[in-house]
Amino acid sequence: MFALGLQGSPRKKGNTDILLAEFMQALAQLGVETRTIEVCQQHIEACKEYTVCEKKGYCPIDDDMSREIYGLIRRADIVVAASPVFFYNVTAQLKALIDRCQTLWARKYKLKLNDPGHRTRRGFVLAVGATSGKQLFDGIHLTAKYFFDGISAQPSGHLIYRRMEGRGQIKTHPTLQVEVVQAVRELTDGLLQRPKILFACRENACRSQMAAAFARLYAGDRLDVISAGSQPAAQVNPVMVDAMQEKGIDMGFLATTALETAIAVHAPATIITMGCGEQCPVVPGARIEVWDLPDPAGQSIDFMRGVRDDIEARIKTLIDAYA
Ligand SMILES: Cc1cc2nc3c(=O)[nH]c(=O)nc-3n(C[C@H](O)[C@H](O)[C@H](O)COP(=O)(O)O)c2cc1C
Repeated sequence: MFALGLQGSPRKKGNTDILLAEFMQALAQLGVETRTIEVCQQHIEACKEYTVCEKKGYCPIDDDMSREIYGLIRRADIVVAASPVFFYNVTAQLKALIDRCQTLWARKYKLKLNDPGHRTRRGFVLAVGATSGKQLFDGIHLTAKYFFDGISAQPSGHLIYRRMEGRGQIKTHPTLQVEVVQAVRELTDGLLQRPKILFACRENACRSQMAAAFARLYAGDRLDVISAGSQPAAQVNPVMVDAMQEKGIDMGFLATTALETAIAVHAPATIITMGCGEQCPVVPGARIEVWDLPDPAGQSIDFMRGVRDDIEARIKTLIDAYA
């Protein structure tokens, strides 16, 4: 399971920074893989409303959104949006990131593509503000609600703190730690218990990516799904992306992962290999299943379609065992 934290404050060691660090640490202690993005240190341009995303599903702006952040959001089971209140909303930097997620919104609502993570992804809000008014967080809540919808995450709670002004003041909050631990426990409920399953092939560019997408789409609520390759390619195969798109499944912004990394980070209970050559993993304690599937790399779209349908049928049989 992977959790992405978006630290929206420009102030280092400020209240948001401390609160999010505490939250991500509590997630990590439960065995969740975590990553925090310092949003204000990223190169993220504001949306220019080119509307290319609405027609083609990608944003032509070349910055850290297309280079990494869309991919991290798509991989995440949990997205934590953290910000101080700046004039009753999130900071401009976090808002720029959110606006640029119009690309993910467009893939979902304009291109009608199905994000394989949509059944399981959860969104959580952390926010701090200096004053104490009743409506202090209303703007953030509304923005977060539509942000989470755009990235296909279920809004799953918030922790908000009023009367926080001085740098790092939140450190002295008497109930902060207890509240964070409790919130993290509730947020991960039902996700942590899922058995981890790793799909492995050679390049992590076609077969294992398709298997992971089908498994996540059909049974993400029951399975913690990972994919990796013994010799990961620089990027996923565009023919595979097209073949999955024919079935309405969105494979955009996926990255490849090395097998050793996936095994070390996630310690999967089951590994399904589908041709990772001589480097097929031997992991003590893990159940290994071998699927005899041809390598579609360099083959026609028709060939890719055949492998795709074979994988989909195998996944449907596999997940019956986890019903
Ligand atoms: C530009 C700016 C706008 C702010 N607007 C508000 C506001 O509308 N309401 C509020 O209560 N606090 C406001 N604050 C105060 C911050 O929300 C508060 O100091 C917060 O603790 C800062 O968090 P940080 O340390 O994570 O940056 C504002 C601060 C700045 C710099």
